[in-house]
Amino acid sequence: MSKVVVIGAGNVGATASQYIVDRQLADVVLIDIVEGLPQGKALDLLQAGSPSNHDCSIIGTNNYVDTKDADIVVMTAGIARKPGMSRDDLLKTNANIVQSSIKEAHKYSPNAIFVVVTNPLDVMTQLVLKTTKLPSQRVIGMAGVLDSARFETFIAMELKVSVKDVRAMVLGGHGDLMVPVTSLASVAGIPLLNLIDKDTLTKLIKRTQDGGAEIVSLLKTGSAFYAPGASVAFMVEALLRDQNRLMAASVCPNGEYGLKDLYIGLPCILGANGVKKIVELELADNEMADLKKSATAIKETVNKMNELLVAV
Ligand code: NAI
Ligand code: 2OP
Repeated sequence: MSKVVVIGAGNVGATASQYIVDRQLADVVLIDIVEGLPQGKALDLLQAGSPSNHDCSIIGTNNYVDTKDADIVVMTAGIARKPGMSRDDLLKTNANIVQSSIKEAHKYSPNAIFVVVTNPLDVMTQLVLKTTKLPSQRVIGMAGVLDSARFETFIAMELKVSVKDVRAMVLGGHGDLMVPVTSLASVAGIPLLNLIDKDTLTKLIKRTQDGGAEIVSLLKTGSAFYAPGASVAFMVEALLRDQNRLMAASVCPNGEYGLKDLYIGLPCILGANGVKKIVELELADNEMADLKKSATAIKETVNKMNELLVAV
């Protein structure tokens, strides 16, 4: 059985763990800074094994020794957004949490693939690359699967079709400047643009871009975790089962889309060793311009983070 370490036993970490064991993908080690929290959630999930028909091992711990030899490390520790708080407000706190816990996890699992969830996502993924010094193929950020799933959900709701028939991709950074790519969206192979008018589409794009904030304003005490947890499990499955799934994820391009030296959401193929390929698609001119704008915003946040980390 493969081993997945999930750092952070909060909402996203516990929910991702649940989807992972439910699908019998791997044994899970949940680790958190709070004593008792990962142990309690792990025991609860273990006891769910009989009724939900999985027999994966799942343990909770506060000690990185127990995370040894993981195949995948999923980084979810950090603080979540509260209403009125931007993702970038999380920057300093989460950068410190990411640096310290990834150093420990990497020490015990030098051959793992790292899947990053902590916000601000693209910037934290870049920090994990810097901290581990791994090849960039082995450090991947989760956001594109989630943002694409939100766009697909809104399209399905609008057209009253099964979400199973909707395919769409959201590229760019996991922030207000994310780029829902309408030229790539389809329903059972029919281009979305043949099925929906421009004004409605504009509304769906805006709702997707505000997708995280919509959930925050409803929940009031935290942010989304079911769809994020399912999105993590989707990526973990593609990696562990060497599935060659094509999806949007935060990756580090080497000239693709005219981009370099930053993490940003792009279409990529995931398999056994991480990112097998970044797929270059022809985007409409406005989509390409939006992608560049999103990249500029990520670079600014990376610079801000580097200043904050030096000041510590
Ligand atoms: P949460 O507050 O429920 O859980 C965070 C957990 O991290 C807590 O249990 C806390 O004790 C733990 N933690 C804090 N410092 C730690 C440390 N040094 N070592 C180990 N554990 C530590 O938050 P939630 O909802 O699980 O969100 C986690 C992160 O994921 C946030 O940064 C959130 O913004 C982000 N997120 C990102 C998404 C994406 O699409 N990339 C989607 C949803 C959430
Ligand atoms: C989301 O999009 C908070 O980034 C998180 O739900």
